[in-house]
Amino acid sequence: MALLSLSGVTSQAPKLCLGIKRNRRLKRRVTVSLVADLSEKPEIEVEFRGPKKGRDVVETAKALSGEKLLRNIMLDNNIDLYATYGKLMNCGGGGSCGTCIVEIIDGKDLLNERTNTELKYLKKKPESWRLACQTIVGNKENSGKVVVQRLPQWKK
Ligand code: FES
Repeated sequence: MALLSLSGVTSQAPKLCLGIKRNRRLKRRVTVSLVADLSEKPEIEVEFRGPKKGRDVVETAKALSGEKLLRNIMLDNNIDLYATYGKLMNCGGGGSCGTCIVEIIDGKDLLNERTNTELKYLKKKPESWRLACQTIVGNKENSGKVVVQRLPQWKK
């Protein structure tokens, strides 16, 4: 007899349990248990490339899939997002200034589609450009790596 159950106890992480309780021919009880921790959430690794203090640097950050906007990941990890004007005049992530432009070099499939705000501000820009404040990193189920070029308008 096999028993398969999924249990979630509020004080513990959810577990998947598989148990085999008895074997009649051997007339003794056999118990096999398999326990898997299902609480681990998928993560997205983000690599940022771009100029900083006169040289190109690479910085990395991680975020739970689908939990954060790219802008918030950058600000939380002290990764420069704005050029000088944007540092002073950005809209705080409201999607009304167009100063938080980044270029997605790799991993665009791990992000949401361009929003209507982006379609308006980035109409004449390359398809790979996004507004960081409109870009959701992950969809809560996927995981992988996204490579982002900061300040693509400065790229040579
Ligand atoms: S911060 Fe203003 S549009 Fe993104």
